[in-house]
Amino acid sequence: MADPRLLELRDVTVTFPVRAGPWRRVAGQVRAVDRVNLSVASGESLGLVGESGCGKTTLAKVAAALLKPSSGEVWFEGERLSAMTGSRLRQMRRRWQLIFQDPANALNPRFTVRQAIEEPLIIHRLDGTVADRRNTVAALLDKVGLAETFADRLPSELSGGERQRVVIARALAVQPRLLICDEPIASLDVSIGAQMLELLRDLQRREHLSYLFISHDLRSVASMAHRVAVMYLGAVVEVASTEALFRVPWHPYTELLLRSAFQPLSAQGVAGGEAPSALHLSSGCRFRARCPLAEQICVDQEPALIPKNPPYEPALRLAPPSVGLAQGSASPRLVACHKRP
Ligand SMILES: Nc1ncnc2c1ncn2[C@@H]1O[C@H](COP(=O)(O)OP(=O)(O)OP(=O)(O)O)[C@@H](O)[C@H]1O
Ligand code: SF4
Ligand SMILES: [Mg+2]
Repeated sequence: MADPRLLELRDVTVTFPVRAGPWRRVAGQVRAVDRVNLSVASGESLGLVGESGCGKTTLAKVAAALLKPSSGEVWFEGERLSAMTGSRLRQMRRRWQLIFQDPANALNPRFTVRQAIEEPLIIHRLDGTVADRRNTVAALLDKVGLAETFADRLPSELSGGERQRVVIARALAVQPRLLICDEPIASLDVSIGAQMLELLRDLQRREHLSYLFISHDLRSVASMAHRVAVMYLGAVVEVASTEALFRVPWHPYTELLLRSAFQPLSAQGVAGGEAPSALHLSSGCRFRARCPLAEQICVDQEPALIPKNPPYEPALRLAPPSVGLAQGSASPRLVACHKRP
């Protein structure tokens, strides 16, 4: 990959105060993100998966500089965002854009599609003349597969899929290098979601975009991401190329996640159990309460995320053949587990 330093999260931690009681006094801290190191290279899609509440959206907000980390650093194109303020940060913000799950909330209901797409152009002073703007809006709509006639419609006059296309056109208006997509197809039905993924893949090829792609739907992650990071209770527990991860999930939690997505309940061999809370993290490995391989060392020591080498010939093939796997780079596989060689 050409630029390994497009987005880099270095040792990022985010804690939130937890309030309780009638006076909403601070009763503790939740570690929503815990010492995460991740990077997205130029032209790469990094998938981010994990159970609800594991910290994916919080991480996305930190990556988009919408939330300051409690500790750690965020770098973009070799510049440290945490050290930036005011106009420099505003200038940088057009280099990445966020796409959330619900396109209805992302669009002002009183703005036409044209106004919605023109707004970021005006904010970032990329607007030019009225004729320039008209041409730019038409070109952006074309990129996302919508005719120019959509420009004068209101969001309420669009389907969910069309709205999400407008959100993507609006994001592309400022010529970003990275799209941070947080559950971008979760509110769409299956066939419209599949078309949206095709559009995102196509845009990546044509515009050389990078994605941080967050989804509960492992099939869409398998088809979109070159590499996948697996989060559990705020921490990244495995990072691998998509092909490697879906063929041989190496961390016991990744295995659980993939089994529950791709196999019937009767065939799921790993203990499921209640997900512990990030509020009450125990010592040692954070997955140990649910892990069938747990031993004393898992109680005593927290495993570090380090390079590991699963056997080449897989014991498990959890992704069904119908799932197209994106081909990733040959980057080393990282796993946080004492028991996996
Ligand atoms: N503003 C906040 N104040 C307090 N706690 C928060 C706040 N935002 C998130 N959290 C907590 O941080 C943890 C991570 O939340 P986050 O929204 O990042 O999870 P997620 O992985 O995106 O979940 P989902 O898959 O359901 O979207 C959760 O325990 C959540 O309750
Ligand atoms: S470190 Fe121990 S408890 Fe944690 S995932 Fe590995 S085997 Fe399971
Ligand atoms: Mg979320």
